[in-house]
Amino acid sequence: MKYDFETVHKRFNTGSMKWNELSKFGVKEADDIIPFSVADMEFVTPPEIVAAIKNQLDTSIMGYENPSPDYLASVCSWLKSRHNWNAEPEWILPSHGVVDAFFQAVRTFTEEGDGVMLMTPVYYPMYTAINSTRRKLVDNPLINTETRYEIDFEDMEQKAADPNTKMLILCSPHNPVGRVWTREELTRIGEICLRNNVLVVSDEIHFDLIMPGNKHTVFASINDEFADNCLVLTAPSKTFNIAGLQTSNVLIPNPELRERFLQTLRLSNPNPKCNILGYYAAEAAYKLCGKWLDECLIVIDTNRRIIADFLKRELPMLKPYRLEGTYLQWIDMNGLGIDYRELERINHEEAGLFFDEGYVFGKQGEGFERWNLACPSRYIEEALARMKTAYTKHMKI
Ligand SMILES: Cc1ncc(COP(=O)(O)O)c(C=O)c1O
Repeated sequence: MKYDFETVHKRFNTGSMKWNELSKFGVKEADDIIPFSVADMEFVTPPEIVAAIKNQLDTSIMGYENPSPDYLASVCSWLKSRHNWNAEPEWILPSHGVVDAFFQAVRTFTEEGDGVMLMTPVYYPMYTAINSTRRKLVDNPLINTETRYEIDFEDMEQKAADPNTKMLILCSPHNPVGRVWTREELTRIGEICLRNNVLVVSDEIHFDLIMPGNKHTVFASINDEFADNCLVLTAPSKTFNIAGLQTSNVLIPNPELRERFLQTLRLSNPNPKCNILGYYAAEAAYKLCGKWLDECLIVIDTNRRIIADFLKRELPMLKPYRLEGTYLQWIDMNGLGIDYRELERINHEEAGLFFDEGYVFGKQGEGFERWNLACPSRYIEEALARMKTAYTKHMKI
C-alpha cells in the first residue's frame, strides 16, 4: 500500500458526532477500540487533499466563492472516468450536504400531504425529510432473502400508481443493506416512476464505494428520459472522508427542474455556495486521489472478509449480508436470541462496542447492526473477539 490506512486519530472529547458517544458511555481513551457507527472513516484524509487545503490557506484567500470552472470540470471528469456518465458542468448546483439536498428536493417538488416513497429499511434522515415537512411516507419495504435484499417491484408499481405519490428517494447504493442496484433493477425503477409521474431523487453519495464484482450505475446515465426525471446527489465526502467540509453536488439535467430547485435554494440564500476549502479539497480528490480510493476499497473489502470468516467460524448465528457497496456492513443479530435493546446495552456496557442500531433505519432493522468497516483491520479483529466473549455469556441458544 502506498497510502496510510493504519493511523487513527482518536477523537475523544472533540465535537466528533461518532466519538462523543464513546465518552458518554464511559469508554476511556486508553481502551483500544473505536466506534463503528456514524459513516465517517477512521482513516487519515488523503495527503493530496490536505496539501490542496494547505495551498489554499497559504494564499490567505478565504472569501466567498462559487464553484470554479476547474472544480466543475473535475466533478464531470470523475463522473465520466469512474461512472461513465457524461454530465455537463451547468447541471451542477452546490449543496452543503446530500441530506440538505434531499430535504430541499422534498420541499421543492412536493406539497404537504404528498406521498414520498422510500425503499425501507433506509438511511434514517430520509424519513425525517418526509415527516418534518408533513409529507406522507410511502413505504416500499425491501424483500429480505436472508443473504441480500431485493426490490418488491409489484408493491412499488402499485404504490407509485397512487396519484398522491410524487417522489421516490432512491438510496443507490443502499444504506444500510449494502446493495448496489443493478442496471436492470434501476431500469425497472425508472420505468415505474416515469409511467406514474414520480420524480426520482437519487442519493448516490456512496457510489464510489463499490466492492469487487459489483458495478454502480448512475441512475441518470441509463437513458435521457430517466435523466429528465431525476436529481442525482453526489459528493466526495464519503469517498474521501471529508464529510466535515460539507461540499456536495446536486446534478439536475432537466433545466426546468434545475431552475425550480435553484429557486428553493434562493429562498434562504440568494447566492447558494459551499465552503471555499471544500471546493479545493473536492477538486484535489477528484483529480489526484483515485489511487487512494482503490487502496481504501481493498482495506474495506478485507475487513468485510475478516468479519464473514470469523462469524461463520465462531458465531454462525450472526448473518452478515453480502456487502456490494458502501462501507457499512449489515448484520442480522437475531440468531443470538437476545432482545435488540438488551443487545444494544450489552454492546455498549459490556463489550464497549458501538454500531449503528438497525432499528434506526426502520422497523425491519430491529435486531440488526450496521457496522462501519472504514478502519484499520486490527480494530475489526478486536471487536470480533469482544463480541464472542460478550455474546457467549448471554446467548439463549
Ligand atoms: C445515503 C446517505 N445520504 C447522505 C448521507 C450524508 O450526507 P451529507 O453528510 O452530505 O449530508 C449519508 C451519510 O451516511 C448517507 O448514508
